[in-house]
Amino acid sequence: MTDLIPAPAAVDGPQGGGAVARLHAGSTVHAAPGTEDTAQWLRVTLGPALGLPLAPADGAQAAAVRLVLDDALAAEAYRLTVHSSHGIELRGGSAAGVFWAAQTLRQLLGAEAFRSAPVDSGKDGWSIPEQVIDDAPRFGWRGLMLDVARHFMPKADVLRYLDLLAAHKLNVFHFHLTDDQGWRVEIKRHPRLTEVGSWRPRSKWGHRASELWNDTPHGGFYTQDDIREIVAYATARHITVVPEIDIPGHSQAAIAAYPELGNTDVMDTTSLGVWDTWGVNPNILAPTDNVLRFYEGVFEELLDLFPSRFVHIGGDEAPKEQWKKSPAAQARIAELGLSGEDELQSWFIRHFDSWLAARGRRLIGWDEILEGGLAPGAAVSSWRGYAGGIAAAKAGHDVVMCPEQQVYLDHRQDGGPDEPMPIGYVRTLEDVYRFEPVPPELTEAEARHVLGTQANVWTEVMENRGRVDYQVFPRLAAFAEVAWSALPAPAERDFTAFESRMATHYGRLDALGVDYRPPGGPLPRQQRPGVIGRPIEGSPPNV
Ligand code: ACM
Repeated sequence: MTDLIPAPAAVDGPQGGGAVARLHAGSTVHAAPGTEDTAQWLRVTLGPALGLPLAPADGAQAAAVRLVLDDALAAEAYRLTVHSSHGIELRGGSAAGVFWAAQTLRQLLGAEAFRSAPVDSGKDGWSIPEQVIDDAPRFGWRGLMLDVARHFMPKADVLRYLDLLAAHKLNVFHFHLTDDQGWRVEIKRHPRLTEVGSWRPRSKWGHRASELWNDTPHGGFYTQDDIREIVAYATARHITVVPEIDIPGHSQAAIAAYPELGNTDVMDTTSLGVWDTWGVNPNILAPTDNVLRFYEGVFEELLDLFPSRFVHIGGDEAPKEQWKKSPAAQARIAELGLSGEDELQSWFIRHFDSWLAARGRRLIGWDEILEGGLAPGAAVSSWRGYAGGIAAAKAGHDVVMCPEQQVYLDHRQDGGPDEPMPIGYVRTLEDVYRFEPVPPELTEAEARHVLGTQANVWTEVMENRGRVDYQVFPRLAAFAEVAWSALPAPAERDFTAFESRMATHYGRLDALGVDYRPPGGPLPRQQRPGVIGRPIEGSPPNV
């Protein structure tokens, strides 16, 4: 057993006899029609690590590695066969299954296969013990949400994260592109969204209760070509990029760029800048026709960029005080015969649900979109615990489970005083390993509405890629196993065995250059002495 993570469904072998398949300079790859993207990945990612060209084969017969589609397998399932005389076969139920088989093959080759160039120039080829691995994912939605609004992540680092997701067989990248603190996607018809909305003059350093400021201006955004590149890169790795534009709350950056988007009858929105601290912000969008038209324009450009069936519209943490005070909002409530502000938010969300549905897409939003009535066909990201997801699934809506107490990776992973800018609950590697996405309250039929699960990474206290790595790893490895593997009930999961496989996996992460939290705690350079986080277990979790 090669300490595979996530654990595969079944492994037959290796037998004791020591029979191996070999890869060497002359080894070729044959790709059946429809599997070319995996052949390309083997050539551009695995080949350089091994120091082998892995050139295309003339025919399947002579190839050392054969990529095959097999309708008899479920779409993302695969069978990986390693044989001393027949070579290596990656057989998938779809192109995605073949790609996941290639990720397993890389792990079988050892940590060196995760480098960018070989370290042993004298090495005479690579050998893999004979075995057969049958595998398939538990969930179709295995995601990571990355908040690039609170701290911008440069494009190259986003591409690297897509590689890290692929290496863990995760297949959804939920891209949180807008928030109070920054607007990160170019919208050609509304250029001020990025000209103004992508920059803030300073940032709170640490938790919002901290009195420290980082006075370096912060910002950045992705051009539409950057987005096309990110989406194409993800697609080649069988990852769907789900974009999020957060409305009607978390919108101060947009209002700073276009003050008319705010509740101008309640306050002077021209004085709002892009927000420089953290927390829930009172400045929400006005429920006017102009705002609807403005965001339809935003979503029109977004749909051109993102082929994802699901489009995320946020919907979380939208305080209603301004709507309560706003004559325009109250007139809208009266005109529509709504019971109050919650139904007004519902109306707002339903508008975009119908708008997206008319264009062949599906709306997904945070579980607050349940309040005041959820649009039919809409799906829910259940973040405030399981309750929203349970209610949604019982009402026949699809759900992605991402409860904050379990899979918010911004939360600290240890209670020690050295954790960098600690916030939230302590959620250890073991806690994440014992996370169960399907709550017992759901019947089997209701549980089929659980599309899957995702881990969420909010970046208020993660100012660069190293900090993101620290919060995400190693816990994403445990999360990937929860999302992919058919694990027993949480209490029966063998965490000790997982930890011992992690010993090998740390070697892979080292080879990839991931700045994970070492099992013994943060390295001195990973600590942030003197910057307060949230020190009390059980305190409200979000920053
Ligand atoms: C959220 O954490 N506000 C979705």
